[in-house]
Amino acid sequence: MSIKGKEMSQQFDLIVIGAGPGGYIGAIRAAQLGMNVACIDEWKTADGKPAPGGTCTNVGCIPSKALLQSSENYENAAHHFGDHGITVSGLKMDVAKMIGRKDAVVKQNNDGILYLFKKNKVTYFNGRGSFVKAVDGGYEIAVAGDKPETLTAKQIIVATGSSARALPGAPFDEEQILSNDGALRLAAAPKKLGVIGSGVIGLELGSVWRRLGSEVTVLEALPTFLGTVDDQIAKEARKAFDKQGLKIELGVKVGEVKVGKKGPSTSSGQAVSVAWTNAKGEAQTLEVDKLIVSIGRVPNTEGLNAEAVGLKLGERGDVIVDDDCRTNLPGVWAVGDVVRGPMLAHKAEEEGVAVAERIAGQHGHVDFNLVPWVIYTSPEIAWVGKTEQQLKEQGVKYKAGTFPFMANGRARALGDTTGMVKFLADAATDEILGVHMVGPMVSELIAEACVAMAFRASSEDIARICHAHPSLSESTKEAALAVDKRTLNF
Ligand code: FAD
Ligand code: NAI
Repeated sequence: MSIKGKEMSQQFDLIVIGAGPGGYIGAIRAAQLGMNVACIDEWKTADGKPAPGGTCTNVGCIPSKALLQSSENYENAAHHFGDHGITVSGLKMDVAKMIGRKDAVVKQNNDGILYLFKKNKVTYFNGRGSFVKAVDGGYEIAVAGDKPETLTAKQIIVATGSSARALPGAPFDEEQILSNDGALRLAAAPKKLGVIGSGVIGLELGSVWRRLGSEVTVLEALPTFLGTVDDQIAKEARKAFDKQGLKIELGVKVGEVKVGKKGPSTSSGQAVSVAWTNAKGEAQTLEVDKLIVSIGRVPNTEGLNAEAVGLKLGERGDVIVDDDCRTNLPGVWAVGDVVRGPMLAHKAEEEGVAVAERIAGQHGHVDFNLVPWVIYTSPEIAWVGKTEQQLKEQGVKYKAGTFPFMANGRARALGDTTGMVKFLADAATDEILGVHMVGPMVSELIAEACVAMAFRASSEDIARICHAHPSLSESTKEAALAVDKRTLNF
């Protein structure tokens, strides 16, 4: 729009910068609450089409789960169908087709968000959003994209997410040194795959390519495997990964990473060479065809022009917020990976909704103690609340109950009896303090624990609820019973 040659800004009640799960969900909720909302996001598909949904939809949660499913199907057909009397001959993996299916799943999600924007009358701008200046009672935001725009609003939500952190001296080329992006679109399973960091991405994507035939070595700096997971659960998971042939080295120091300029260049013919020191201090070299670097993520605030309005950033480049996602500026909020707290899509969503409700004068609330975690490997790992080691550190008196899937009829029928459910409850009041799981489909089972804990249930409450038989959820009930040593099936 222009008046006498001058660009006129479009006015909104709320501008959301970023259309990942924090941004698009917040934008939709705000529109539902009666606000006139704009949502700006710069993501484009490889062929230049707007692709809302952020990391989660485009190169995160959704595509990784699609590949985990495809590769698990392949592994089952290759190694486990025989147990059911099913013979498969001529089994082949068409990686290009698997990646194509993953891309189609992503596109369905992109399209779903575009549909929801339209339905809820959220105005979507494809381009980079940045602060220009504070204006009377609000902020001016520039959109740099195919169609540059200037927008103003009293309320702004920064939901710009995060990006993969590179190893010093080894930038991502997405050919040989891969972030999550490149690791989700390989043309074939590399013969040898290196992974730096045995966190969530390392384990999930390492598992995908191991199942499809890669020899995977994971180098982890910390001396403990999955240090934030309950010790007992992490040990059980480690046993399963070892059995699968995922080679995990702990307590390592990664040194220089060398990449061959054109094809294989190292002595053994692999393209990437990683110098590293093992836990005993011995110098080692890992030579691989591809290297996934999954050592955490950094908040996206570059290009936001935060300094133009004095938006306060932390040392990590994160936007500093209080518990309610308020920044140092009136009317400016920030949610999701760009702020403190776990980098999880559902945490971002909850914050987006809560902020929209707060702007509308309601009392949005996020209980950060009840954000579940799930690692979608096989076995899956899921937990909510405190770990046993945290309770010990905090001097909380607790009771613990565990129940193995080995003793669960449904797990036996499924042919997957790995793992257990573990309950931690307050020694005096029996209130559930943490629930930890490793085993089949625990990503789904954990919701029961979240509901119970949200209602401040005791382990006895769960133990007295009728659970369907045979179901994996009986292990949840049995673990709750085990807290008071009343297990029925053991
Ligand atoms: P993002 O999803 O990162 O979205 C931010 C958006 O803002 C992006 O589209 C970005 O391009 C855009 N943007 C940034 N700056 C600007 C700007 N200046 N102007 C315009 N647009 C901008 N979490 C889970 O809970 N479960 C999972 O299973 C899971 N799996 C994952 C797997 C992988 C491989 C990865 C990498 C992450 C995974 N995560 C998972 C984490 C999850 O993706 C993030 O926590 C989540 O996407 C954060 O949401 P967000 O809205 O804060 O940011
Ligand atoms: P992460 O924080 O889960 O794990 C990074 C690992 O790398 C840590 O174990 C760390 O000790 C190690 N590390 C760091 N620097 C290192 C170095 N120089 N050498 C060797 N090891 C090093 O980070 P990741 O896997 O990159 O994932 C980022 C985030 O994305 C996760 O924290 C999670 O929030 C989110 N995510 C969530 C998923 C889910 O919910 N299922 C799936 C994938 C990602």
